[in-house]
Amino acid sequence: MKKAIYPGSFDPLTLGHMDIIERSAKIVDELVVGVLNNSAKNSLFSLEERVSMIKEMTEHLPNVTVASFDGLLVDYMKEIDATIIIRGLRAVTDFEYELQIAQTNHVENPDVETIFLTTSLQYSYLSSTIVKEFASYGGDISKFVPGQFIDRIYAKYNITK
Ligand code: PNS
Repeated sequence: MKKAIYPGSFDPLTLGHMDIIERSAKIVDELVVGVLNNSAKNSLFSLEERVSMIKEMTEHLPNVTVASFDGLLVDYMKEIDATIIIRGLRAVTDFEYELQIAQTNHVENPDVETIFLTTSLQYSYLSSTIVKEFASYGGDISKFVPGQFIDRIYAKYNITK
């Protein structure tokens, strides 16, 4: 059984994240989308909101579950018996940071391997930060996030459309 985790902040989940979830679910037996409980970071959506939004979007994927974690990723992986980390690589700018994390995690636990999926071309520019920046000014985010999240994201900025 190959059990993997796709960790991230998912604040909010984008179509780029969805692409990685759907593609990696085809590669591994079990995929846990792990939402980081990053209390230090000022997140737009609460941990509970982020988890429930991802659950809503992954209902159709039978081998995908959603959970939150805090502390070190490698420690959480031991807890849930997962050995693979899935990360998306958008551009070369992601590489240095991702390589460092992957190597550190592997040193911390040599059983842990990171698999990088290259983001589909149409999402290679996308990030949750960009989505929030556009949304905060009332910009069009319909090509960035699942349709049912659009109003919920605008609502965080007191924008009604
Ligand atoms: O979506 P993000 O914010 O780029 O995800 C970053 C994440 C959650 C993968 C990373 O910050 C993480 O694994 N945090 C948990 C703490 C940890 O294990 N740190 C060691 C690796 S730097």
